[in-house]
Order: sequence, then structure tokens, then C-alpha cells
Amino acid sequence: MKPQTGSDPQVIVVDHPLVQHKLTLMRKKDSSTNSFRTLLNELAMLMAYEVTRDMPTQEIEIETPLETMTAKVIDGKKLVLVSILRAGTGILDGMLTVVPGARVGHIGLYRDPKTLQAVEYYFKMPKDMQERDVIVVDPMLATGNSAVAAIERVKATKPKSIKFVCLLTCPEGIATLRKAHPDVKIYTAAIDRQLNDHGYILPGLGDAGDRIFGTQ
Ligand code: URA
Repeated sequence: MKPQTGSDPQVIVVDHPLVQHKLTLMRKKDSSTNSFRTLLNELAMLMAYEVTRDMPTQEIEIETPLETMTAKVIDGKKLVLVSILRAGTGILDGMLTVVPGARVGHIGLYRDPKTLQAVEYYFKMPKDMQERDVIVVDPMLATGNSAVAAIERVKATKPKSIKFVCLLTCPEGIATLRKAHPDVKIYTAAIDRQLNDHGYILPGLGDAGDRIFGTQ
């Protein structure tokens, strides 16, 4: 099944039945921390498959046990996965299973509970960012403030390209991110109805960080 782009080609909804099934299980309030984490891992692998679909390849010559052939391998410098702490860690692990050679960057941001603005406390990227493609990951694109701030910081390192991967988003989050960074493609498993007054996505799945780490 092809991912859905709807009216905005920069927003890709990965509506594969496996993705949708796992997301539904994650949304259930009774899912244990263990199963939430496992599902997130599996879902992240499936999202990785979709978001890396257009990675450049080159042909190399190899020898099979029977003969010589030219075959494709991924081209260019290693991809960088940038995790927005702390919930991004959940997606990062699953994506690294599929792209084990990727480099990893971290951005520590917390959401000021009063202003809902992103406040940075940590930033560490790999070397040679100018030669690399970047995928920024965070399970929830809610107000969009963290994603906008994170992408701004990553852009300052001048990577070749940036994509953003989340599990869930809402119209408000998409609008904020699209306005600030119209060049960044958004990959999500679903677009939910709306944000509530506390910046949570409805119907959503609750606080992703708390559900991943069992800190509720
Ligand atoms: N962050 C979360 O973890 N959940 C939401 O619904 C919104 C932001």
C-alpha cells in the first residue's frame, strides 16, 4: 500500500495496515509499558522503511557464490537520526534496527508547561553534517514548538536535507511546522483531531514519554 499524501505532498501519512494496527494498540490506555515500547519499536521500523524510500543508491560489483554481478548499495555519507529527548528515544531504537549504520544526534528540549514553548538543555550532533541527510524523530508532533526549535538548530549545521518523523500529529502541529519549515517533509502514522488546552493531542495516546518509560 502506498503512503497517503492527501492535499499536501509534504505531509505523508503512512497508512499501511500494520502501522495502523500497531498504532491502535498503542493508543489503548490499558497497554502496558512493555507492550507500548515494543509496539513503538516495531512501528518505528516500519516508518523507517517509508522515510528512507528515496535514499540514493549506487551500483557495486560483487561476487555471489555463482557469478559476478552489479548490485545496489546505499550511497553517500551515513544518515543522521536526530532524536528529540526524551520521547524520541523510542522511535530512534526501532529506526536504528533498520538503519544500523546511521549516526545519531540528540537534542534535549522540554516543554515549558505554562508557555508550551520548547526550552533547550542539550545539543550534540555528529561531525560532517554538511554531507549528511537528517531524519528528526519525535513520537508526537503536537504544538509543533519542539519540532520547529529542533529543526532550526539542526538547520544551523547545514545538512543536505531534513525530514521529520512522528507517530501522531494534529492539524495545529502540522500548520506550525509547515509554516516554519516548509522544506521539511513530515512522515506520520496518523493525523488526529485537535490539541487540547494543555498541548495534548486528541484522541491521541497520552504522554508518549511517560508511556515509553513508565513514569506516569
Ligand atoms: N506530547 C505527548 O507525549 N503527547 C501529546 O499528546 C502531546 C505531546
